[in-house]
Amino acid sequence: MTREPLRSQSSPGNTRNQTPPMSRRFNTGFGMKVAGMFAGIGGLEVGLSRSGHTTSMLCEIWEPARAVLAAQMPNVTVEKDITKLRSLPREVELLVGGFPCQDLSQAGLTAGIDGSRSSLVGHIFRLLEKRRVPWVLLENVSFMLHLDRGRALAKIVEAFEELGYRWAYRVVNSLAFLPQRRQRVIFVATTTDTDPADVILADDVAKPERSTDLRTHAHGFYWTEGVRGLGWAPDAIPTLKNGSTVGIASPPAILLPNGSVVTPDIRDAERLQGFPEGWTEAAEAVGKRNLRWSLVGNAVTVPVAEWVGKRLTTPGFYERGRDQPLPNGGRWPKAGRFDGDRRFGVDIGAFPAWKTRMPLADFLLYEGSPLSARATRGFLQRTERSTLNFVEGFQDALRTHLGAVEGGGSRHEYLQAAE
Ligand SMILES: C[S@@+](CC[C@H](N)C(=O)[O-])C[C@H]1O[C@@H](n2cnc3c(N)ncnc32)[C@H](O)[C@@H]1O
Repeated sequence: MTREPLRSQSSPGNTRNQTPPMSRRFNTGFGMKVAGMFAGIGGLEVGLSRSGHTTSMLCEIWEPARAVLAAQMPNVTVEKDITKLRSLPREVELLVGGFPCQDLSQAGLTAGIDGSRSSLVGHIFRLLEKRRVPWVLLENVSFMLHLDRGRALAKIVEAFEELGYRWAYRVVNSLAFLPQRRQRVIFVATTTDTDPADVILADDVAKPERSTDLRTHAHGFYWTEGVRGLGWAPDAIPTLKNGSTVGIASPPAILLPNGSVVTPDIRDAERLQGFPEGWTEAAEAVGKRNLRWSLVGNAVTVPVAEWVGKRLTTPGFYERGRDQPLPNGGRWPKAGRFDGDRRFGVDIGAFPAWKTRMPLADFLLYEGSPLSARATRGFLQRTERSTLNFVEGFQDALRTHLGAVEGGGSRHEYLQAAE
């Protein structure tokens, strides 16, 4: 199937699709009223706000995330625990949430999502049973498609169908918008006449083929791996992971064109998720600095939510020729939909757009930290045992980096020497 480039959504005159200035970000006066469950640091809500929707309420239990929400969205009420939330404000038209995926496996699904109030996503359905909010937007890791051999997603879609919603979902790669590879499931359900497929399955572009070179482009990788996987990302970083909730950071490494190997600064990590730099600073008042990595790694990439927000306001056109039979055996394809009558798999890629971006090496504003001698040595040893194919010159670049950091100069001297 040919994938046509997206028409520009921010053409002159289309003021609805322009990013509102910072001062208006949370009070744009048009679009839908949003309730954000499992809000984290508000990736969904910030993106929706940039596309003209307004956050009415938030719900988030973790103190460092609550501190960020309080600092960044001071006018919005933040409820603490979804299990205690009795109902949603009357004005809410769009319920959103990236529920914790491990919760689905832990809660067990024998009672069914809709029957089991012990699962957190079950509380979304408890709230929807009280009032069928016209639109729902969920986000989750792509593993959700395979969880419990597909039964987890089956329970979720059954629960929506029983409540009279039509739905569509799709794996979306953040690389469509920013230099970060990150695949997440975006799921939209509605009771309105609008087809959810016209919202998230209308845009599909081919990812441009780009050739990169170690001398001209930055390359991201997981320095903690190197035996079976590497997360090799040309001119991008691999998925920012959520680290740990006790503050053990897990930033990826980047081999820069000047030969230095760094882990990025947290402010650049925030930008690689589409947030303004410093977005999570307020978390430091209630926890360790490194918790910011967990917060950023857990978040929804802002421009992904912004794209969905624009399409909620102005739906596109879903080509029905993309419909496929759903595979047997409970497996879920990378995209699917329910038209109110039948379920289909959908033939579509993970790139709803390809936003022009600057090279990763230029995108980064901060020096980052040189990967330590210990980390580099351990990683190199793993790569030497591994059967992976590495790009020519990669291991040599790491050896050179190791020599430089073993020299023991200051971070600044090291980075200057690499210039
Ligand atoms: C995957 S993260 C969501 C991240 C968010 N979408 C963002 O952009 O930052 C899931 C969030 O659910 C929160 N959470 C877990 N249990 C909760 C509960 N009972 N009530 C409210 N929030 C909860 C976690 O603290 C975590 O921040």
